[in-house]
Amino acid sequence: MRQLASILLLAFVVGGASAFYSPTDGVVELTPSNFDREVLKDDAIWIVEFYAPWCGHCQSLVPEYKKLAKALKGVVKVGSVNADADSTLSGQFGVRGFPTIKIFGANKKSPTDYNGQRTAKAIAEAALAEVKKKVQGVLGGGGGSSSGGSGSSSGDEVIELTEDNFDKLVLNSDDIWLVEFFAPWCGHCKNLAPEWAKAAKELKGKVKLGALDATAHQSKAAEYNVRGYPTIKFFPAGSKRASDAQEYDGGRTASDIVSWAGDKHVANVPAPELIEITNESTFETACEGKPLCVVSVLPHILDCDAKCRNKFLDTLRTQGEKFKQKLWGWAWAEGGQQLALEESLEVGGFGYPAMAVVNFKKMKFSVLKGSFSKDGINEFLRDISYGRGHTAPVRGAKKPAIVSVDPWDGKDGQLPTEEDIDLSDIDLDKDEL
Ligand SMILES: *[C@@H]1O[C@H](CO)[C@@H](O)[C@H](O)[C@H]1NC(C)=O
Repeated sequence: MRQLASILLLAFVVGGASAFYSPTDGVVELTPSNFDREVLKDDAIWIVEFYAPWCGHCQSLVPEYKKLAKALKGVVKVGSVNADADSTLSGQFGVRGFPTIKIFGANKKSPTDYNGQRTAKAIAEAALAEVKKKVQGVLGGGGGSSSGGSGSSSGDEVIELTEDNFDKLVLNSDDIWLVEFFAPWCGHCKNLAPEWAKAAKELKGKVKLGALDATAHQSKAAEYNVRGYPTIKFFPAGSKRASDAQEYDGGRTASDIVSWAGDKHVANVPAPELIEITNESTFETACEGKPLCVVSVLPHILDCDAKCRNKFLDTLRTQGEKFKQKLWGWAWAEGGQQLALEESLEVGGFGYPAMAVVNFKKMKFSVLKGSFSKDGINEFLRDISYGRGHTAPVRGAKKPAIVSVDPWDGKDGQLPTEEDIDLSDIDLDKDEL
C-alpha cells in the first residue's frame, strides 16, 4: 500500500511538474515500475526517448516526438523516460546524454541506439526498418521457425552492423568482410537482401557479410562516403583500417557475390608455414585440424647438406603456396629422427626424401611414388586434391609418437668427434634397434 502510494506520488510529481508528454500524445510515460511489463515483456517494438526536462535538445524534440507517436500509432509503440525523475532506467541502459533514443526491437535485451536525425520522419524510418527486420527474422531463412522474440534470427548469417559495433567487428578482425550499406526504403536494397543472406550462408567460414542501415547509422555511412544505396564495400583479410575499404564491383546475385568474394578469399589465404617436426607440439601445430597434412622426410644432413636441404624445403614451400587454398598442413622431419612417424606412414627405410599425405581424421594416408621434385610432387598433390590416388590406413590407426629433437640449425652437418660420443647414447640406440 505504501509502495503504491509512493508510485502514485511519483507519478503525480512527474506528471504534474515536468513531464513532456501526456497520455493524449500517444507517448507512454515509462518508469522503473512499468518498464518491464510495458516494454521488455511486450511483443511490440518500442521507441524510447530518455530525456531530462531541463535539456534544450529534449525540449525541441517534443513536437517531432509527438508527431512520431501519432504516425506510429498502432504500428510501433512510443515511450519516454524522464531520467531526471528517476535515473534507474537510464543507468540500466547506459544512457550518457539527453535526449537518447533507443529502439527496443527483436532483441529486447539489447536495444539499439538511434543516432539519426531527430525528426519524426527519420525516427519513423528507423522504427519501420526494425519492424521489417523482425518480421524477416521470423519469415526468412526458409524454416519459418519463430524466434519467439529472442531476436536470434536463425539461418541468417548476415551480421547486423551499427555505429557501435562496426569497428570492433569489422576493422578489428582478421576476417574478410563485405559490408552492405542500405536504406530501409530502397528498392534495390530489398532485392539484394535475400541474395545477400544466401551468399552469407555459402561464404560462412571464409568471408563475413554484414549490413548496416545507413539511415540509422549515418556517421558510419559518411565515414565510408556512401552516396547511394545499396553501397557494398570490401574489407581485406588481416589488420585493416577504414581506408583499406574497397569498392565491390561484382554482381548482385548470390552466386555473383559468392564467386567474387571467393576469389578474394583465395587471394588472401596466406601460404602455409612449413614446420619442422621437432616435438609433439610442432607436429600438432602443423597437422592438427587440417584436412590433410603433407609430411616430408628429408635426408640426413650428412647425406644432403644445407644447400641440398634448402632446395628441398624451397620445393615444398612452392607447392605449399600453390595448394594453399586447400588449407593443408605442411611438415617435415629429418630421416631417422621420427621413426614411429616414418613407420606408421611407411615412408622410412626405402630412401629419403619421402613424402606422405595424411588424413589424421580418417587415419589414412597416401605415399608419393613418383619423384620428389616440383613436377613429381605437383602431380601427386593434384591427384590427391581430386580425390585420386591410393590410400592406406595409418599403421596402428593412431597418431604416431613424436620424439623431441633439436630443430635444424640451418647449417651443414658435422661429423661427431670422438669426445662427443656418449656411451650411454650408444646403448640407447642399440636398445631401440
Ligand atoms: C617444440 O619445438 C619448438 C621448435 O623446435 C620449440 O620452440 C618448442 O618450445 C618445443 N615445445 C615443447 C613443448 O617442447
